[in-house]
Amino acid sequence: GVAPLQQASALTFNAVAKSIADDVMLPPGYTYQVLHATGDRINTSIPAYSNLGTEADDWAQRIGDHHDGMDIFFIDSAGRATREDTGRAVLAVNHESSADAHFFHPRGQTTGGVNGKKFSQFGGWDLLDRPVDEVLKEINHHGVSLVEIVRGTDGRWSVDLASNRNRRVTAQTLMRINGPAAHINDIRRFMVTRFDTTGVSSRGTLNNCGHGTTPWGTYLACEENWAFYFNMPKGSNPVSPREQASRARYGVPSAPIAMAATSSTSQGWFTASRGDDRFDRWDLSAAGAAADGSQDFRNEANTFGYNVEIDPLDPRSLPRKRVAMGRFAHEAAVVGIPVAGQPLAFYMGCDSQNEYVYKFVTAANWDPADFGRGLVAGDKYLDEGKLYVAKFNDTGRGEWIELTITDTRIQNYSTYVFANQADVFVNARHAATAVGATKMDRPEWGAVNPVNGDVYFTMTNNSSRNIGNTDAANPRAYAGSNGSTGSGNPNGHIIRLKEDGTRATATAFDWDIFLFGAPAAAPANLSGLSENNDFSSPDGLWFSKKTGICWIQTDDGAFTGSTNCMLLAALPGKVGDGQAITVNNTLGGTEAQQSFIGAALGDAKLRRFLVGPKGCEITGITETPDGKAIFVNIQHPGERTAALGMAADFTFQSTWPAGSASAGNYGPAGSLRPRSATIVIRRTDGGVIGAE
Ligand code: FEO
Ligand code: CA
Ligand code: CA
Ligand code: CA
Repeated sequence: GVAPLQQASALTFNAVAKSIADDVMLPPGYTYQVLHATGDRINTSIPAYSNLGTEADDWAQRIGDHHDGMDIFFIDSAGRATREDTGRAVLAVNHESSADAHFFHPRGQTTGGVNGKKFSQFGGWDLLDRPVDEVLKEINHHGVSLVEIVRGTDGRWSVDLASNRNRRVTAQTLMRINGPAAHINDIRRFMVTRFDTTGVSSRGTLNNCGHGTTPWGTYLACEENWAFYFNMPKGSNPVSPREQASRARYGVPSAPIAMAATSSTSQGWFTASRGDDRFDRWDLSAAGAAADGSQDFRNEANTFGYNVEIDPLDPRSLPRKRVAMGRFAHEAAVVGIPVAGQPLAFYMGCDSQNEYVYKFVTAANWDPADFGRGLVAGDKYLDEGKLYVAKFNDTGRGEWIELTITDTRIQNYSTYVFANQADVFVNARHAATAVGATKMDRPEWGAVNPVNGDVYFTMTNNSSRNIGNTDAANPRAYAGSNGSTGSGNPNGHIIRLKEDGTRATATAFDWDIFLFGAPAAAPANLSGLSENNDFSSPDGLWFSKKTGICWIQTDDGAFTGSTNCMLLAALPGKVGDGQAITVNNTLGGTEAQQSFIGAALGDAKLRRFLVGPKGCEITGITETPDGKAIFVNIQHPGERTAALGMAADFTFQSTWPAGSASAGNYGPAGSLRPRSATIVIRRTDGGVIGAE
């Protein structure tokens, strides 16, 4: 196993104030650089980025948009994986969404789009005339970027454009469908399309949000809101009632979208789908209607919703969709502390309202000699294992329930009739409901405390939580104003659990609530937050292996009127530190009465470290092993938000990083369009980030 580190004893920076400035705000003594931003080329065979939307179809060789989950993989002088800080590494970054694609389309600056139509799936689009180049940009900016980076003698990091390891994985990249040997043939029947009538392979990955990093040195890109890229077929509709029930549970449209509607939720990608129309306009009457799906793309949505394993050091390798880890809105996948000779546990959240927390336990025992063996090791650990879902009981105890076709609750589930174990993996959400898992307040990232193995999950918020359906693990619901904007659980919380015996294979655990988000001024400020550390809607979550700091990132719906999104540092303690409390709170509204466990940290153990530019989300974080540099992603600066007074036009509310002196005015001169980016933060005195 890995030697436990010593938890840092104190945070050593001054808290950063809330900010609505269009800039990255850091404590005194800290500085940052932009490493790469949306549209940067990854080799010199194509032109440098214009930031004017004038690029043609070359986005499969550019950094994608919406930087999200991320990790760094060091290499030695021979290009092999190493745990040493060699100053040379491959950085893998997820590129999540097209929600702000107007910033890299030619018309991104115009008011109201063309003919009054807006852009992308959230703004609606005239779906009959989407320009092909715009669609290709959106398809190709999704996925993952993998670029070799090198540290200079001045400590600054840069992308090595000459590296043959630089790679884009996109929504078009060929992937393998993988799963347990006993069920792989059944799994492949779900994946049969006209593209691959054997169901062995599929094309592309979508909406890669959080990530995972495996102990053997590969990267997991997690597919979150993939369901919204699809449509129902037009023409005659032979989709079976079972398939309809599956689509309904995952949010895949179950009725054809009106393709000319300005309020459509379709991506409108059919314009450029080159004859297969696999995303959102396939026509069954034209394609034929073989019930196995081999003549059309009725099964295309079944090929998304997985953890996608990528070998960051082998650009020729085919990414694997790991079906045994379940199909849902995968936010992130975090591994427990590896113990040699024991199975590994991966903890996973499904980020939608009232969805679940899952665990995958490998059949194989961890062998440290597998480090550096890439997808061969991935096949060993991630194709065979058990999938569990969490049930949190009101006593501060919880249990993992295995999702298996041998469970009579799954066999007898009436909302969706399961065919076999492969069906349980592919329709894991239905299976989890069948066994009575606890419906959570939108599980976002998980993180494992490297000091003691405690497993943390952010519950970002849940507007549909109400007084009638709270429970001890999701205890907050506001029926009226309580000093926060929003209803239900508007500010979110962070829950944590300790496996019995700290074992990956445990089927029961202790849990408590680590933190409740809230404005400091709110009457229901349950974690005693102050102006120095109040926050809302926790999302990204990660522990430094150097300092043991728990870093919390926000994606903040309820708080944007008073501050942009932020990064906070916490010294977390452990499960059970707090005491049972009863919330009986009617201050300014009505809050459900529930028992839970919690402990206020105070300013000494929880401080705001960074606030981002306008309209951004802070998500994705990693570090160098010495803890002296952290990499952080600034996602979608300038995203339109009503709280900041953004009108329905496309005037830029943010000009970061090009318009920011602190960012070195990063980017080509002549355009202030905002861009997502990876930044590297260091101390000006070269010390360890955040703590000692
Ligand atoms: Fe893509 Fe749940 O955040
Ligand atoms: Ca997220
Ligand atoms: Ca979020
Ligand atoms: Ca976002």
